[in-house]
Amino acid sequence: MKKNLSIIALCLLAIACSPKEYPNETIGIIPQPQVVNYTGDGVFNVAEATVSIDPKLDDASIGAVNCFAASLSKALGREVEPQGLLKTGIRFVLNTQYQPEQYTLEIKKDKLTITAATADGIKYGIASLAQLLPDAYFGASEGEQDWNLKEVFINDWPRFAYRGVHLDVSRHFFNVEVVKKYLDVIALHKVNRLHWHLTDDQGWRIEIKKYPRLTEVGSTREETMLLKNFKPYKGDGQPHGGYYTQDQIREVVDYAATLGITVVPEIDLPGHMVAALAAYPELGCTGGPYKVWTIWGVADDVLCPGKEVTFKFIEDVLDEVLDLFPSEYIHIGGDECPKVRWKDCPDCQARIAEVGLQNDSLHTAEQYLQNYVTERVQAYLNERGRKIIGWDEILEGKLAEGATIMSWRGPKGGIEAAKNGFDAIMTPGGPLYFDHYQSRQIDKEPFGIGGYCPIDSTYAFDPYKGIPQQAQKHILGVQANLWTEYIASEDHLFYMLLPRLDALSELQWCAPERKDFERFKKDLARILRIYDLKGYAYSRNIYGEPGLPGYTGPLGDAK
Ligand code: ACM
Ligand code: ZN
Repeated sequence: MKKNLSIIALCLLAIACSPKEYPNETIGIIPQPQVVNYTGDGVFNVAEATVSIDPKLDDASIGAVNCFAASLSKALGREVEPQGLLKTGIRFVLNTQYQPEQYTLEIKKDKLTITAATADGIKYGIASLAQLLPDAYFGASEGEQDWNLKEVFINDWPRFAYRGVHLDVSRHFFNVEVVKKYLDVIALHKVNRLHWHLTDDQGWRIEIKKYPRLTEVGSTREETMLLKNFKPYKGDGQPHGGYYTQDQIREVVDYAATLGITVVPEIDLPGHMVAALAAYPELGCTGGPYKVWTIWGVADDVLCPGKEVTFKFIEDVLDEVLDLFPSEYIHIGGDECPKVRWKDCPDCQARIAEVGLQNDSLHTAEQYLQNYVTERVQAYLNERGRKIIGWDEILEGKLAEGATIMSWRGPKGGIEAAKNGFDAIMTPGGPLYFDHYQSRQIDKEPFGIGGYCPIDSTYAFDPYKGIPQQAQKHILGVQANLWTEYIASEDHLFYMLLPRLDALSELQWCAPERKDFERFKKDLARILRIYDLKGYAYSRNIYGEPGLPGYTGPLGDAK
């Protein structure tokens, strides 16, 4: 309540600053800030400015300001060394009355002040300011640069606490450098979670010291299926692999933290485990042999929950994961786990009998066996101070209190979860699956998994639709997923992400009444220019120009 009051007080202050309207202009920041008031006719000149920091700000804030000053120094060609707080120039100020992620950005003739209570607020203030700066800030070495900023007062805070983007590195591996670039661009949009999908049937990507074969054997598939040639099967004959050492994982987690992003790791279980089974066949019901999957699809071979060795494996892996990832949430997957092996497995059937699981009118005993796995893993993580996120399949049967549902098979799972008192994150296929095509002209698009996810559908998605008001507090936030079965290059990856990420960020950040697709389209022009300067590939489908320039792979109607 106190926090809400402080926001109301700031809004009143903003209004009291005699706003000046610029009717045909938007501030040009994505996501659009909650309050923007033009307060005068003057301009502040960044090119001449000093940078100074309130000494009460914490180390993480100071680190963020130092990074900003380094980028500014490079752009201006002079050393901008942050100093103790001054009365003029670019100033970073602590105000503990603000909400944790809130910031204000006030530009007057003689000073530009970013104020926040936390390092997150400071970082979001910098992300907004960056988008107001000229091309030189993003690396342009030529062209006229206008460093004058209009007087304005911005007061800003997020709509949702969980603002995620997912990255599948299992179907295709992306190295640390690419993952860092991915983090850079999502940070510019005030995203605060990277959901890192590290394990799947097609590749195990995280070094686990206790189980070296996971990466020795499980990180390489001998080939990739060409297009969708299931029948007859046709592979490309090209091995594909890669994994992150634990040092590299730490490097990514630390880098993300400097950007204000928490990395949520996913160890997908008990299904989507063929890469692990190829390495340790004793973990499966049949004992194998298994090989890392070359095709996309749902594998019948999954972990065997009838054997204690399986739980020992899960717990050992999670112990190492917990050491590497400070995230409160650990994603344990749970999607698409066929039960056919469990039906025929004497160990699984013995477990079903031991626990007393039975078929009923809603679910089979084998479905309840998946609940048993989820519950055991959840208890293990809860005892260690962590919480689970699982795909919406974990709702089937009964679910222990405290689990968070990631709704991917449409919004249905999230709605059901919220109504039943579980927290949920909305990430439905369709509007939030960025592996889907962006245009209807798929013969011009790089070959993809299918589906259709134009940017306007992402923008228009309503995370509260179908959720009674009293249950809306359970919607922690929104995330887009980027699966990479047919995405093998960095350019293709960024092309699928951008600019749908921009639409996502307004969904995650802006109050619904701040959203306006026409205004958003205008604002995109600036951010697309930034992508050009940074060398990020992106889609221009919003201008009726489908296709990824320079792409020579198969196109969307390829057979
Ligand atoms: C999923 O897309 N299988 C979560
Ligand atoms: Zn079994």
